[in-house]
Amino acid sequence: MRSVIDILDLKVEEIDELIDTALDIIKNPEKYNEKCKNKKLASLFFEPSTRTRLSFEAAMIELGGSVIGFSEANSSSVSKGESVADTAKTISCYADIIAMRHPKEGAPLIASMNASIPVINAGDGGHNHPTQTLADLLTIYREKGGFDNLTVGFCGDLKFGRTVHSLINALSRYKNIKIVLISPEELKLPSYVKKDVLEKNNIEYSETKSLEEVMPQLDILYMTRVQRERFFNEEDYLRLKDSYILEPSKLASAKETLSIMHPLPRVNEISVSIDSDPRACYFKQVLNGKYMRMALILKLLKEAGRI
Ligand code: NCD
Repeated sequence: MRSVIDILDLKVEEIDELIDTALDIIKNPEKYNEKCKNKKLASLFFEPSTRTRLSFEAAMIELGGSVIGFSEANSSSVSKGESVADTAKTISCYADIIAMRHPKEGAPLIASMNASIPVINAGDGGHNHPTQTLADLLTIYREKGGFDNLTVGFCGDLKFGRTVHSLINALSRYKNIKIVLISPEELKLPSYVKKDVLEKNNIEYSETKSLEEVMPQLDILYMTRVQRERFFNEEDYLRLKDSYILEPSKLASAKETLSIMHPLPRVNEISVSIDSDPRACYFKQVLNGKYMRMALILKLLKEAGRI
């Protein structure tokens, strides 16, 4: 059974196809509104979510399907001690496809090994978040027309930010990508991502603490929230949470063509006064996420022979 747990589960050509489908959905939504009639998405969220959960649900509804599920672990039998494997086997009896978010790295993979329907990782701990990456890729495609020759700055919590890990993995497959990692010492990109992704693929990258210093080089600035829920103590979080706050003055040296991205939710790291800057793309990412999730649900259900 084909599942998507890691963005690298999708080949570059498959990502191109998903983008084509998403663009077609944007142009001809009515063509798609019965494609998943009588099909059910199980939306299993063991961790808080606004965009990911609701965009998966909106995606399935716009495809003519319906949604079952839960939005917190306490309302499922997991609170009685049920394993992820048993939960996945159970849900396979009721639904056609699963979107699962879980605080433990690897939980959606375990689910996919035990389910008889496709499983989509909707975020596992500080590890991966492939469908946010699909939203990010469609946004980059629509803003820049492609993925080659881009200098992409990632700023904030690069240690726990799963959207950062997944997007770096995705970008590592395109030509002449340069990655600029901007973070405090304590929140640097994990060395496994540096070694296994950046170094292995000979991607040019640099690390700095100063956003101002690198701003003029960037084609894309991907801001992130400091991931409070992954910290071991509150003091460290409080010390690091406002490490970077993007304000209009900081954009003085930025390119006119810069795209400012953020997976959201934002806390303090982008001033609301940036929202009206034409370079701000974060609400476009939200909408693009729904289209890419529609495209992915369609693809996996087709491959599973369910539509
Ligand atoms: C992200 C996540 O859950 O990892 N949010 C999202 O899905 N758009 C980013 C975050 O929580 O900071």
